[in-house]
Amino acid sequence: MNMVELITKKKLGQELSQEEINYFVMGAAEKTVPDYQLAAMLMAIRLNGMTAKETTCLTLAMRDSGDVADLSAIEGVKVDKHSTGGVGDTTTLVLAPLVAACGVPVAKMSGRGLGHTGGTLDKLESISGLTVEISEEDFIRQVKETGVSVIGQTGALAPADKTLYALRDVTATVDSLPLIASSIMSKKLASGSDAIVLDVKTGSGAIMQTLEGSIELAQAMVDIGVLAGKPVTAIVTGMEQPLGTHVGNALEVKDAIDVLSGRTKGALLEVSLLLGSHMLVLAGRCETPEEGVKLLKEALDSGAGLEKLRSMIKAQGGDSRVCDDVSLLPQPAVKRTVKAGVSGYVAAMDTMALGLAAQAMGAGRIQKTDVLDYSVGYVLPVRIGDLLMPETDLAVLYARSEAEADKAEQAIRNALVISDEKPELPKLCYAIVTKDGVQRF
Ligand code: URA
Repeated sequence: MNMVELITKKKLGQELSQEEINYFVMGAAEKTVPDYQLAAMLMAIRLNGMTAKETTCLTLAMRDSGDVADLSAIEGVKVDKHSTGGVGDTTTLVLAPLVAACGVPVAKMSGRGLGHTGGTLDKLESISGLTVEISEEDFIRQVKETGVSVIGQTGALAPADKTLYALRDVTATVDSLPLIASSIMSKKLASGSDAIVLDVKTGSGAIMQTLEGSIELAQAMVDIGVLAGKPVTAIVTGMEQPLGTHVGNALEVKDAIDVLSGRTKGALLEVSLLLGSHMLVLAGRCETPEEGVKLLKEALDSGAGLEKLRSMIKAQGGDSRVCDDVSLLPQPAVKRTVKAGVSGYVAAMDTMALGLAAQAMGAGRIQKTDVLDYSVGYVLPVRIGDLLMPETDLAVLYARSEAEADKAEQAIRNALVISDEKPELPKLCYAIVTKDGVQRF
């Protein structure tokens, strides 16, 4: 067996056997197959797809490419949450502390930015001193002591995904159902949690942009969960516009702190409460999502959620004073407020273009080795349905230079559709998928 034969087979749209998938995956994990052959295989999969059997084999091979974490030393049901990725989508930083404040341990392994989407690890690393590279032993100790930890998957966990994820980011092979499903589920199955809540985004900023594609992805991941014996609830949420008002690494940390401090309400909080409430249900903390929302709101109002974030940042070596003073987060060279300049309703947004605009400013990687600038990005206070006047603040840009601010301003203007007609407002939640079926809203 060799990689050229396997790439050829997939290029011709043929089904790969379990042995062939294992060969490719172990080649990625052990780095015995060069990046250019892995990248060619990823593109062949992206273009020709995979059967359900291949997707399952790929997921299990990726899970088994490294260790499977043992979290049994942490008492209680450990529920993980994972998003397919969005723009201004920092629900983890809001819900992990809130869920922990409700008494449910959160031992979460997160990812880095991928394509136009941001990554929780990159956001956390914008906090001075904070580390996301923690041994499994210290991770477990931290969760036992503080109730919450968010770290990177350890090198020993699903190493094949680590290699493939980084390659997909820079080879335009992110938007592939089998690659997304196997990437997410292999990590979730290896990370030792007892149950999983998945946030599957849909809309112009999602990896899967159509509702049917997003529901199909949700079903594929729920099916893999069933096969692996783990309860999975997948919630299809809207990504027709950035979820929060802030896009960029330090800016999204600020957005999460603003929410946990009670200063900001809105879609980021609503979706965090929705996902968090399903985590509480799967953990057995409450019977219904409605009860879960109530518990989470209590943790928000009492300040217990913000306190948990503070403990987590401190435990991971970060400067927890950011929870009280967000100006301690990295600041950019240039800050520019942009006015709408026109009147009309915000009718639609090209949210992928908005994500790419932040990436181009230095908030995301274009090449694997790119070093991020944590301070850059933008605040976009306007939402679909808002009526703009020429003097309305459209955005505040946080840039490395005036020239980059110019480019970002143009990209943001191009990404917004302004119309005389008031548009229909997008939903926050479109469907909930479990092993029992699909509930649409
Ligand atoms: N998140 C992941 O972990 N993997 C993907 O492929 C997409 C989103």
